[in-house]
Amino acid sequence: MEYVTLNNGVKMPKLGFGVYQVSKAECKRVVLDAIEVGYRSIDTAQAYFNEEEVGEAILECSVPREELFITTKVWIDNYGYEKCKKSVFESIKKLKIDYLDLILLHQPFADYYGAYKALEELYGEGIVKAIGVSNFYPDRLSDICLFGRKVIPQINQVETNPLNAQVKAQENMKKYKVQIEAWAPFGEGRNNMFSNQILKEIGDKYNKSVAQIILRWLMQRNVVALAKSVHKERMKENFDIFDFTLSDKDMEKINGLDTNNSLFFSHYDPKMVEWFDEMIERRR
Ligand SMILES: NC(=O)c1ccc[n+]([C@@H]2O[C@H](COP(=O)([O-])OP(=O)(O)OC[C@H]3O[C@@H](n4cnc5c(N)ncnc54)[C@H](OP(=O)(O)O)[C@@H]3O)[C@@H](O)[C@H]2O)c1
Repeated sequence: MEYVTLNNGVKMPKLGFGVYQVSKAECKRVVLDAIEVGYRSIDTAQAYFNEEEVGEAILECSVPREELFITTKVWIDNYGYEKCKKSVFESIKKLKIDYLDLILLHQPFADYYGAYKALEELYGEGIVKAIGVSNFYPDRLSDICLFGRKVIPQINQVETNPLNAQVKAQENMKKYKVQIEAWAPFGEGRNNMFSNQILKEIGDKYNKSVAQIILRWLMQRNVVALAKSVHKERMKENFDIFDFTLSDKDMEKINGLDTNNSLFFSHYDPKMVEWFDEMIERRR
């Protein structure tokens, strides 16, 4: 495993395992499998509705707590200072742990300032070892870094894959010493990611799969990455990326696939802000 050191000195595995869209029924088994394969960093969220099952796996696995790196995210509906603080303690309880390695604000909408203040306090008290944000595009990231915050976020987790490489966003993060973390490294398979001809040709050269080439490319760009699979064989495949190095030429070829557009949606689109608002109302 390779590691990054965050701006507060905390060490984090460069490759982690995500449980978005993993059902409650499957989640415990999936996380236990992932830990057995070798993953130590597990990424969940209040909005995934599977924190309890991740917690069951943490309790049952044979790996000591201090060797695991557990991340969760505060959902928008829990923003604002008081609600955020309360929700983090609820997440910790569901996860059956007594501290979090990393807590993120999931989306850059609503009262994220109040919520961030709560995270800063929890960080000061040692209940969370690192704090950060997710889906904060460059304007919002600069905002939270510059205006009145005491702690610069350690992480910004954003969609990052060969078709949306986040080059400019990563440059902006570097300026503030914020570590980039990739969600959807495979773009969830959208736009025929797994059968992309250029990625396949590079894979053939190294005797690696498209998934492995993508994850290796992220590692070499110093991007922390989260891969998700409910299949143990794929978990192993995705973990087997530390025995080869992509040449500069192949890195460039992959860089050339960037469209600078999300495969999902833009956080700048007002329609998406409305969609989040409606989703929150539906879930209440
Ligand atoms: N902060 C955010 O807003 C946000 C948003 C999305 C995701 N995330 C985090 O990032 C993690 C990863 O993103 P993601 O789950 O959306 O997408 P992803 O990792 O890009 O793609 C997951 C998909 O790829 C398939 N897959 C995985 N490995 C494969 C392989 N070796 N060969 C072929 N197919 C493979 C999986 O199928 P199977 O499971 O069937 O194998 C699944 O359908 C999430 O789990 C979550 O923790 C965060």
